[in-house]
Amino acid sequence: MNKKVLVTGGTGYIGSHTVVELQNEGFEVFIIDNLVNSDIKVLDGITAITGKKPVFEQLDLCDSERLRGFFSLNPDIESIIHFAAYKAVGESVEKPVLYYYNNIVSLLNLMKCMRDFRIPSMVFSSSCTVYGQPDKLPVSEDSPIQEAVSPYGNTKQIGEEIIRDTLHACKDLKAISLRYFNPIGAHPSSHIGELPIGEPENLVPYITQTGAGIREELRVFGDDYDTPDGSCIRDYLHVVDLAQAHVVALKRLLEGQNKENYEIFNLGTGKGVSVFEVIESFERVTGKKLKYRVVDRRPGDIEKIWADPSLANKEMGWATRYSLDDAMKSAWDWELNYRKLK
Ligand code: UD1
Repeated sequence: MNKKVLVTGGTGYIGSHTVVELQNEGFEVFIIDNLVNSDIKVLDGITAITGKKPVFEQLDLCDSERLRGFFSLNPDIESIIHFAAYKAVGESVEKPVLYYYNNIVSLLNLMKCMRDFRIPSMVFSSSCTVYGQPDKLPVSEDSPIQEAVSPYGNTKQIGEEIIRDTLHACKDLKAISLRYFNPIGAHPSSHIGELPIGEPENLVPYITQTGAGIREELRVFGDDYDTPDGSCIRDYLHVVDLAQAHVVALKRLLEGQNKENYEIFNLGTGKGVSVFEVIESFERVTGKKLKYRVVDRRPGDIEKIWADPSLANKEMGWATRYSLDDAMKSAWDWELNYRKLK
């Protein structure tokens, strides 16, 4: 098996955890990242965990010429895990052209390279956002795709379509799209974790920053939803479980175990958890009271979603192993370590 893999966005949150799992499985990792939303120091965190520094190239995937130059110099890379993308839902509504340009052009450039440099395998980072608010829960892969509520979400839908159509025409290429539910937590070593720049948009970094005294209080966006405690429900999975799923998916392609040349899998725990339950878990594992206030609903939020992960369980032999408490504990340890609070 050729174990040279390109990880785009490898210094980002999910990317860095995946690089660690790949290196632990003996892969030789090449990272491309433009560092617009990540820090070069993440490489030190990865090296501290695995004892091996990945090859790093600071490069913008929209720069097609430099990207082609990279593949010309590295002709023996045979697979790609593609994370690099803009991901802030709110910002994408303000700056749609930026989001469409960055996320789509980078994918197109990569796919042209796959074809021209004969790189047969790709794992693509997609999202449960493609389902919108499903009528039926848990949501399986054959649930209908709904109109995207944000340009960010639309770039994931369009990305999946570009891959599907390209692979329909090029049978010698293969890909797996992984539709993530809500990744949270950090590596148990606390060497890498989620590093939002500025005020966090996502729930768990907001909670840990509030716990650390960086934010004054968490705002809970709505307690009048049609759910048992009134807050929204999501399927939160530990980022290490998610990272391991990428290794499994990549091996599936490299070992030719895939059943079609394009496959899609949901990655989640299968369990819905409310915002208040996440807060309770934080308080349980840290012994701290979290300061929070209920405010209006956040525009664009869906009420409830959780995964049916049985296809990934059965076909890939992958299932989550960490609990919500494990994830919250690791997120807190990472926050303390990063802020040098312990
Ligand atoms: C969103 C996107 C998802 C994307 C992910 C990563 C949608 C519908 N979902 O997930 O596609 O992959 O971000 O960036 O666009 N909450 C609070 N207070 C806060 C922050 C969040 O109460 O300060 C609540 C939200 O209302 C929600 C839950 O926490 O119910 C999770 O929110 P968040 O972490 O932002 O993720 P999603 O919106 O589910």
